Amino acid sequence: MAFREYKIGARMFAVCLGGSMTITLLFPSITLALATSSDVGLDKSFYAGHETGFNLEDPFLLGWNKPLKVTLRVDPKTQQPMELKTVYVYQPGTSFPASILHPRIFGKGIQELSEGQGKVGEARRESGAVFTLAKGTFQGAEYSYVDNLTATRGWTPAEVMLVAKDEDVLHAGAGKTMFVREGCWWCHTMLPEETQDWQVFGAPPMLGDFNAESPTAFGSDRKGPDLLHVGSRNSSREWMMLHFFNPRLVQPHSIMPRFDYLWGEKDANGQKIDFDKWRAEYIEYRDGKRVNPPEVPAYGKDSEIRYLIDWIMSLK
Ligand code: HEC
Repeated sequence: MAFREYKIGARMFAVCLGGSMTITLLFPSITLALATSSDVGLDKSFYAGHETGFNLEDPFLLGWNKPLKVTLRVDPKTQQPMELKTVYVYQPGTSFPASILHPRIFGKGIQELSEGQGKVGEARRESGAVFTLAKGTFQGAEYSYVDNLTATRGWTPAEVMLVAKDEDVLHAGAGKTMFVREGCWWCHTMLPEETQDWQVFGAPPMLGDFNAESPTAFGSDRKGPDLLHVGSRNSSREWMMLHFFNPRLVQPHSIMPRFDYLWGEKDANGQKIDFDKWRAEYIEYRDGKRVNPPEVPAYGKDSEIRYLIDWIMSLK
């Protein structure tokens, strides 16, 4: 008697499992691999480059091998002022995002335009390349596609960097590596959800926002605010600088750790930063023995904190 019940149970289990596998494998409502990249996805993958997590080209997560996102004001060939243009500069040797090597990742329309008009197939890692996003039509529909300016206009990375001002250069890819390395994702998500969340943190991401991005760094646990659109809420570099040096300077009860060590040894003027002195003065301020907190040192142009803030500023 008992044996027969087991047999019924086993059959019911097989039917349920088989049924659910059939639905999963044969009736998918959407094929993730076919998602066409959104503008956000294109921008993100081109400013971040190949990979912002652990990899052989940047084993210590120092932000090596990353492209630069540059706002150009003058034409690098003629040196004449031109309409502002955002370009992604890949210096010789910098790895390209996965979509350059496998254009299928762009998705339909963008793939054809980028390979055709955009000549992305001609980009060579050894000589570097300069990319931008352009608009084109494919089969009657408009798409943003990737234009390899090195092939279509002959702009080399060196020529572009010669006319670019330092304040127009964002080290956003290196900054995202800092986010991964420093473990910001223990406390911050990059994923507003489709709940009341978006009234505070902005719109949830779309499917095509992730083509060729690695790692996506969604995070899963929130002890601080979501950061996906933080640059739209707060675009003050000064605020970010104070907040990263010591969050308690601007948010007295913050539990966020200080990231003052990302300044490195020296400030913007090449002076050695005296962290002990700063700390002693800060404690006097905290205890009410000083009216103002000590000044936060200006960061150097190649400091890790600059990379991180450059990335935060690009989170619109
Ligand atoms: C221990 C948890 C924790 C860690 C780790 C942490 N944060 Fe925070 N963060 C917070 C909390 C809590 C707040 C809100 C209070 C405040 O502003 O300090 C915050 C606020 C922020 C804000 C301001 C957000 C807004 O909406 O204006 C930014 C930007 C930020 N963090 C970035 C970072 C980055 C980048 C890192 C890694 C380098 C990091 N945080 C690491 C907890 C954390």
